[in-house]
Amino acid sequence: MTKEKTAVIVLAAGLGTRMKSDLPKVLHPLAGRPMVGHIMETLAALDPERVVFVVGKGMDAVAAAVAPHTTVVQEPPLGTAHAVLAAREALSGFTGDVLVIFGDTPFLSLATLQRMIETRRAAPLPAIVVLGFRPADPGPYGRLIVDAKGALTAIVEARDATPDQLAVDLCNSGVMAFDSGPLFGLLGRIGNDNAKGEYYLTEVIALARADGLSCAMVEGDAAELLGVNSRADLAAAEAILQDRLRARAMAQGATLIDPRTVYFSADTRLGRDVTIGPSVVFGPGVTVGDGATVLAFSHIEGAEIAAGARIGPFARLRPGARIGTDAHIGNFVEVKNASVEAGAKANHLTYIGDARVGAGANVGAGTITCNYDGFFKFHTDIGAGAFIGSNTALVAPVKVGDGAIIGAGSVVARDVAADALAVTRADHKEVKGWAQRFRRRKTAEKAKGKG
Ligand code: UD1
Ligand code: CA
Repeated sequence: MTKEKTAVIVLAAGLGTRMKSDLPKVLHPLAGRPMVGHIMETLAALDPERVVFVVGKGMDAVAAAVAPHTTVVQEPPLGTAHAVLAAREALSGFTGDVLVIFGDTPFLSLATLQRMIETRRAAPLPAIVVLGFRPADPGPYGRLIVDAKGALTAIVEARDATPDQLAVDLCNSGVMAFDSGPLFGLLGRIGNDNAKGEYYLTEVIALARADGLSCAMVEGDAAELLGVNSRADLAAAEAILQDRLRARAMAQGATLIDPRTVYFSADTRLGRDVTIGPSVVFGPGVTVGDGATVLAFSHIEGAEIAAGARIGPFARLRPGARIGTDAHIGNFVEVKNASVEAGAKANHLTYIGDARVGAGANVGAGTITCNYDGFFKFHTDIGAGAFIGSNTALVAPVKVGDGAIIGAGSVVARDVAADALAVTRADHKEVKGWAQRFRRRKTAEKAKGKG
């Protein structure tokens, strides 16, 4: 038996006018990942024989984001049927099932796509399967028109619908599965006599029915099939996704003290028994090891946090921050492109950039790595067990040896040997009784009405 084949066409050539954006709609991020990245993840799990993305002219950034998948350019964008036709050549020689999905419907799940394919392949072998759903507000979605026997007869766009049709709450998600045989022939017959003057893919149902082909409908979950057309839709989609990511984090063994205030990226990875305080934001590329704690109001991006580490409150970890086992990063500490090795501590008011802080080192309050001279970045190396006194400026490139101690308030611009003491502040001077004499003189002057 030969395996039945599946191809997927992803439509992403629309102008996304309602977004009012210079960025193509499908590149707008959701949970730190472009919308189209969520679709790519689902497609990777489906693993179809062919994938074709239909993009607009000049959307090179979209093509780059979906590489190595094939892209075809639809120019100009004359509607969803016209967009599918743009993929015709890329599918030449293909026979099997063709799934059409939209780049602006990012939560579509693998299970739903599989259900679509199964329905297409099961008796009575419908030529087309449409994925319907019942959104809370059917507003702009196309309506699925079903006859007395429950058979799908047509899809009507909201702008072209009669009041009776608008009252239908069963909507078109945009996802359709086709038998490749009649697909392109049907699409070629679609006209553009409608409110938008576009070639609507939705017209394919009425044409197929007129040819005596059967069309089936599968109903899906509204939260999964939300289409993003505006910034408000984008925010609604983000909210749905964040709720899912919070639930996933907790299901995998993390404690979220106030889940509603924690923001994840789609790729955030948390170990077991991680505790996350309120109002923590995870940008892309963060891994948190078992038993680590991230306290309130921390902002973390592109960082690796090892087991048992304690971060925050009010910490900022930027890309390339690597925090070792049981290390502590405290309040108002920023770490960028630096490793803070096992057990090291930087507990207050510090900037550690382009640096290594050796195991067990202690970085005092107000320490700054001066890593940038306005032109180039330089590295600071702090040895294991070193102690950096408060308010130290480490002028990179500079190396502090293992176990060295730097006196508070120093400006360290030369390497310090292991186990040495370096202090660069001015000598302490003291004039006995000076302050008392000063106050007496000033009090007397004031009493005489001077000044
Ligand atoms: C579309 C459906 C509507 C459905 C809704 C679900 C049509 C005519 N309408 O409406 O029935 O309820 O999606 O979210 O199909 N695109 C192109 N080229 C084009 C036009 C669009 O590639 O020429 C792409 C867009 O980038 C987008 C998708 O097709 O990813 C849908 O286009 P959009 O304009 O958003 O259609 P809707 O009005 O949302
Ligand atoms: Ca849309």
